[in-house]
Amino acid sequence: MTAANQRLDPPGGAASLAGRPVARIGFGAMQLPGARVTGPPRDRDAALAVLRRAVGLGVNHIDTAQYYGPDVANELIHAALHPYPEDLVLVSKVGAERDDRGAWMPAQRPDQLRAGVEDNLRSLAVEQVEVVNLRLLDAEQHHEAGSQGVDLASQLAEMVALRDEGKIGGIGMSNVTVDQLRQALPIGIACVQNAYSLLDRSGEPLLDLCREHDLAWVPYFPLGSAFPGVAKVTEHPAVLAAATALGATPAQIGLAWLLAHDPQVLLIPGTSSVDHLTENVAAGQVEIDEELMTVLDGLVDPLG
Ligand SMILES: NC(=O)c1ccc[n+]([C@@H]2O[C@H](COP(=O)([O-])OP(=O)(O)OC[C@H]3O[C@@H](n4cnc5c(N)ncnc54)[C@H](OP(=O)(O)O)[C@@H]3O)[C@@H](O)[C@H]2O)c1
Repeated sequence: MTAANQRLDPPGGAASLAGRPVARIGFGAMQLPGARVTGPPRDRDAALAVLRRAVGLGVNHIDTAQYYGPDVANELIHAALHPYPEDLVLVSKVGAERDDRGAWMPAQRPDQLRAGVEDNLRSLAVEQVEVVNLRLLDAEQHHEAGSQGVDLASQLAEMVALRDEGKIGGIGMSNVTVDQLRQALPIGIACVQNAYSLLDRSGEPLLDLCREHDLAWVPYFPLGSAFPGVAKVTEHPAVLAAATALGATPAQIGLAWLLAHDPQVLLIPGTSSVDHLTENVAAGQVEIDEELMTVLDGLVDPLG
């Protein structure tokens, strides 16, 4: 029985993504391959169980990438969930690849974007990926790999061609600046995926633009990620205090704040644990009153 015919209330409430109905609380598959997003997972059955439990709880939006693992997250999604529930919206991304050591490399040439989409179609065993994010790699952050110097216009043109051919349903933008998003808007954008959390508000101007154009805002690192050097939402004293006061968990406070902060928000928290997944999906039931909202709104990145 699928999540659709179980008629579960959509976790976090109902929303839409690229014209498809989705629950506001989805799932990010990046934690499944294992440490440093390099697979295979230590416990394959546990990873498969997380995916099946997510769908069982009403999650119908899963975020993935061919380069998670690499080639591991999509294989797990296929193994756990294919044939997919009709209401499941799979979202992937192109624009990066991994080298032999697992380093993140830009893959932004049009032929690489196309190959990335083809890889996703093959590994997920679908005729169309509902949404594919064009993931821009910041040349400065990835100086090891160097910048490919591919202009944004030719990348967008290739994404449009892939959409016209029906290989992708909608185009998202990831790791973009306001100017890059403005440049992409005329082609029709479904969603934007940048780092953003209770403790990292750097994406606020992009969220403003998403609101203006009614685009889904799908923050990555909503809890502060598994990587070192990113502020962990679940460790902030004010979050811990709020969790105690509300009888919720710290992760639920961070996720409930995101849901309450703006209706454009769709969540894709990542976890490799069924218990954490269950907690995260239940974050939609945590109500943050005005007083607590004011406190949380006022928090800043302790590492920033
Ligand atoms: N577009 C992009 O460039 C981009 C970049 C990064 C990520 N993403 C997407 O965004 C998704 C979310 O980001 P993320 O997974 O990197 O980071 P995240 O969701 O902010 O945090 C994941 C970390 O939080 C832990 N966690 C999850 N639920 C928890 C809970 N209830 N209590 C305590 N700890 C909890 C996880 O550990 P456990 O596994 O132990 O639960 C993991 O260490 C990814 O899965 C991926 O799909 C996109």
